[in-house]
Formats: sequence, structure tokens, C-alpha cells
Amino acid sequence: MLRIAVPKGRLEEGIVDLLKKMGYDLDRVSDLVFKSQELVCFFVRPFDVPTYLVNGAADVGFCGTDVLIESQVSLIQPFFLPSGRSRMVLAGPRGKGIPTGEVRIATKFPNIARRYCESRGLSCRIIPLKGSVELGPISGLSDLIIDITETGRTLRENDLEVLDEIFEIRTHVVVNPVSYRTKRRVVLDFLSRLRRVLEDEGFQEPVR
Ligand code: PRP
Repeated sequence: MLRIAVPKGRLEEGIVDLLKKMGYDLDRVSDLVFKSQELVCFFVRPFDVPTYLVNGAADVGFCGTDVLIESQVSLIQPFFLPSGRSRMVLAGPRGKGIPTGEVRIATKFPNIARRYCESRGLSCRIIPLKGSVELGPISGLSDLIIDITETGRTLRENDLEVLDEIFEIRTHVVVNPVSYRTKRRVVLDFLSRLRRVLEDEGFQEPVR
């Protein structure tokens, strides 16, 4: 039985649709578990997908570049899904630029933020938050934020602007390297079924 970690939220519906198009007849066991004869899907918080894989509780998962880089895990990444493209950015109050001296940066991605500041030679204090990062500069908790922007609406609504783009975020198909060895046949079968559905839908770039 192949175990799939599906991130709850934005990507969830699209992934369930893909699984159905791949021919899996999924029955809902609970809000958190769907099952077919060949696979079981666990619906987990996006940040928890790598945890399920590296600890051997899931074989295949779907994971954003943001989560993959922040969690610093090593997983096989055969190809991307054609999801909407979002960006990890440094942002701050409109028209103010980057302040001089030590900069306080609120973020849900402290590892990414630390690495970014090091690479830019920016003296910073990282303020880790679990959500609503855009409140950082409004409340005075931070000078800037490092966060995801997709449509740009959250930034606009909070009078923030992009100061620098850090990387583009895609949705990666990820595979636990142990499962890749021990369940090779079923994993490869799953991946080729997925790739076929994506190609049928006209996605041109399934293989890296
Ligand atoms: C992300 C991000 C912003 C928002 C940006 O949060 O942290 O809040 O999306 O999207 P936009 O540019 O389309 O407005 P997400 O919705 O993933 O939820 P979270 O804050 O619960 O992590």
C-alpha cells in the first residue's frame, strides 16, 4: 500500500482531483484519511509533509519549495506540479526601503530568512511567527517581513511592497528515498500515472 502525504489547504483540492484522474477510487475514511485499494492519503499541515516522509510514515508527498528549503531535508524530487507560481520575498512598508543598522525581520521561515540575510550581508534579528506575518511592521514588532506572495493582495492590503525576490515557489512531488528503494515498483508506477495525467492535461514541464 502506497502512503501519500497531501498538504491541506490551497493545494489539497487539485491534488485529490489528480489522484482521481490517475484512477484511484478514493473513499473518505475521515477528514484526515482517504483510502483506495492501492493507496492511503494522509491530509497533513503543509509544513509536516517532509516530517511524514523522512520518518517513514509516508512514501510520496507534495511540497512547496518554501517548505522544502525551510525544513532542510533531503528528499527525491522527480518533478513539479503545474500549480500557480508564488514567490518568497523580502517586503516592507511602502516607500521606506531597507532601514540601516540591524533589521528586525518577522517570518514563518527563520532558516530561509537567516540564510538570505547572510548571503546579502544584512545584519538582522529574525522574529519567528506562526502566521499573519504582515502584522509585524504594522504593530512595530518588526521592520520588514520575509513571506510568500502570490497575488500580492496581502501585501497591498497592508501597505507593504516587495523589496527583493528571494526565490520562486513551485509544488514539488517528493519521494522518501527509502521507499524509492524498498517500494520501487509501486512508487515508479504512481509517478508514471501522475506524469501521464499531467501530460494529458497539457502540462509541458513534468520532468526536470
Ligand atoms: C500566505 C502568505 C500570505 C498570503 C499571500 O499565507 O503568508 O499571507 O499567503 O498570498 P497573496 O499574495 O495571494 O495575498 P497562507 O495563505 O499560505 O496562509 P498562512 O498565513 O496560514 O500560512
